[in-house]
Amino acid sequence: MSDPAQSDSAQTDSAQSDPARSDSAQNDSAQEEPRATEASAEPLTPLLEARGISRSYGSVAALTGVDLQVRPGEVVGLVGDNGAGKSTLLKILCGAVQPSAGQLLVNGEPVTFRSPKDSRERGIEVVYQDLALATELSVAENIFLGRERRRPGPFRILDRPRMATEAAAALESLAIEIHSVRARCGLLSGGQRQAVAVARAVLWGSNVLLLDEPTAALAVMESEKIGQLVTQVAKRRVGVVLVSHNMPQVHALCDRIVVLLRGRVVADLRRDETDVRDIVMWLTGAALSRN
Ligand SMILES: Nc1ncnc2c1ncn2[C@@H]1O[C@H](COP(=O)(O)OP(=O)(O)O)[C@@H](O)[C@H]1O
Ligand SMILES: [Mg+2]
Repeated sequence: MSDPAQSDSAQTDSAQSDPARSDSAQNDSAQEEPRATEASAEPLTPLLEARGISRSYGSVAALTGVDLQVRPGEVVGLVGDNGAGKSTLLKILCGAVQPSAGQLLVNGEPVTFRSPKDSRERGIEVVYQDLALATELSVAENIFLGRERRRPGPFRILDRPRMATEAAAALESLAIEIHSVRARCGLLSGGQRQAVAVARAVLWGSNVLLLDEPTAALAVMESEKIGQLVTQVAKRRVGVVLVSHNMPQVHALCDRIVVLLRGRVVADLRRDETDVRDIVMWLTGAALSRN
């Protein structure tokens, strides 16, 4: 249970036994492909891509012609002032909201998501700030909610020991510190809950993780830990889209930073060619008048 190698294999097993993972083998093969790691090679096909996405609410244009790509192992920061359209874009990426125009692609293939269930089947998971953990259930129960392990036999009894072991291994493999997987989620701190929600998504083999302000309500130390968790997740070749107002954290964690201003992408910046001040200039619109 404390063997990290075992935790990894637990993850692999569960991923393989989950029908939702059937198309994610491409993710694994991308990892093995040597071309992918060569600096000058053509970039990997995005795990998830938005092309020309627009969305209006009545007369309000929440998004206009937005392009976004996230590739395996890439952390993309999505930043912008309040009302810039960040949450609307994340909701479109996971199928919770339908675009008025534009196209989504998964591994280069056009898709239509009618609900988050559709996106989940393609390995896309979203974690909101006010997340969907059941506070009265334990950590292990939350992780296995809807996908419970059962003992073989006619009664299909819940295999609680197995779920506890696998949940503990999953948390440990991501260096998430929770004293017991039998603890009720309602007793955990905000950061621990956020971490459990991320672990759940990773355990179930998501290859794209969408995080809407995961650290907004957290204390500094917890926010740091979620940052480390994002890095861990990306090392597993998961693509991450991180919405955050914490610019130092965005700059530290993200490979690219996409800036929305009144529903349009005004900048798509590589971490090594930008800094916090520059990002703030873009998201306030000051950089537009500067040029
Ligand atoms: N369900 C909705 N109905 C009407 N207007 C909405 C709805 N959701 C978002 N909007 C509007 O769309 C714009 C973008 O909102 P949102 O995506 O929540 O921005 P952000 O997450 O960047 O703060 C805002 O003007 C907001 O008022
Ligand atoms: Mg928002």
